[in-house]
Amino acid sequence: MQKEVVVSGIRPTGFLHLGNYFGAMRNYVRMQDEFECYFFVANWHSLTTHPDTKELQNSVYRVIAENIACGLDPDKVALYVQSDIPEIAELYLYLNMLAYKGELEKTVTFKEKARAQPDNINAGLLTYPVLQAADIIIQRAVKVPVGKDQEQHLEMARNLAERFNYRYGDILPLPHAFNYGDELIKIMGLDGLGKMSKSENQQSTIYLADDNDAIRKKIMKAKTDQGPATPNSEKPDYIQNLFTLMKLVSNAEAVAKFEFDFNASSTGNCAIRYGDMKKQLAEDMVQFIAPIREKANAILGDKELLHKLMKQGADKGRSRAAETLKMVRNAVGLNY
Ligand code: TRP
Repeated sequence: MQKEVVVSGIRPTGFLHLGNYFGAMRNYVRMQDEFECYFFVANWHSLTTHPDTKELQNSVYRVIAENIACGLDPDKVALYVQSDIPEIAELYLYLNMLAYKGELEKTVTFKEKARAQPDNINAGLLTYPVLQAADIIIQRAVKVPVGKDQEQHLEMARNLAERFNYRYGDILPLPHAFNYGDELIKIMGLDGLGKMSKSENQQSTIYLADDNDAIRKKIMKAKTDQGPATPNSEKPDYIQNLFTLMKLVSNAEAVAKFEFDFNASSTGNCAIRYGDMKKQLAEDMVQFIAPIREKANAILGDKELLHKLMKQGADKGRSRAAETLKMVRNAVGLNY
C-alpha cells in the first residue's frame, strides 16, 4: 500500500531546544517508518523576519545535523533545505494569485509579527502562509505534524488547495494538521515565564547544543519555591514542568521518588527537596543530550558528509516536487 505523505518544516531562526525535540522531532522520528516523510529547513521563511543572514547558514547546517542526530534517517526520509527546491517558489507564485489580502492580514501570526517588527512589514511576511502552503502542496502531503499555533496556517493551505482545485481541476490533495493521539508535550522555560524559545530567554532554555556544564547550570537555576505547604497540593506550573522533564529523561523510580516526596509530609512539612530533584534531573539531562550533541557536532565537523546528505535530501525532495509542478502547470494551462 502507498504510504501517506507527511511534510513538516523547521525555521532555522535559532538553536533547537528541548521543546522542539519533544514537541516535534521525536514525532518525526516516529513517523519515518509509517509514512513517506519530507522534512525540511524553512530558510526562505526565516528571511521574512531575519533579513540579516550572517547566522542563517550555520543555523541551516545545524538544524540538518541535529535532526539526523536525533534519529531521522536520511535514507528513510527526505531531509532538505527549502531553497534547494525551486519548485516551491514557482508554486508559491500560483498560490499567491488565489490568496486574498484580507484573509492574509487577518492571520494571527501576521498580526503578531507586524506588531513585533513595525518597520519591516514586508510582503513576504504577509504571504508567509502561502509559502507554507506551497511547501506542503508541492509534495502533495496529506498530513502535517505541527503544533496548535500552526493550525490556522494549515487551514489556509487547505483553502488554497481547494480554490486551486475548484478553478483548475481536482488535482491537489487537501492537507491536515496531524499529531499522534497522545497530547502534544509542552515544555516551559526554566524561569516559568512561557514556552522554551529558539531565541528568547536563553538562560532558561536547554538547547541540544548546550554543553554539560551549561545544562547543569540552567537546571540548577530553574525556578522553584519553598515547597508545598500541605501534602497532595496542586503543583505550580514551573514545578510541574520539572516533573514533565524528569518523566522524559529520568527513570521511573526517580520520578516516583520525587512524586512521593512532593505529596508526602514529614512531620507536617512536605518532604521534597528541590535541590536534590534538580541535581538528579541535571544528571539525567546531561546523559540524554550529550550523545545527541556529540553526533550533531560530528556531522557538523564533516562538511563533505553534510553536503552529501543535503544533496541526497534535495534530490529526493525535488523528484516529487517536479512531478507536482508538472501537474500544476498542466492544470493551469501553462503547458505550451
Ligand atoms: N511555519 C512553521 C513554524 O513556524 C514552519 C513551516 C514552514 C512549516 N513551512 C512549513 C511547518 C510547512 C509545516 C509545514 O513552525
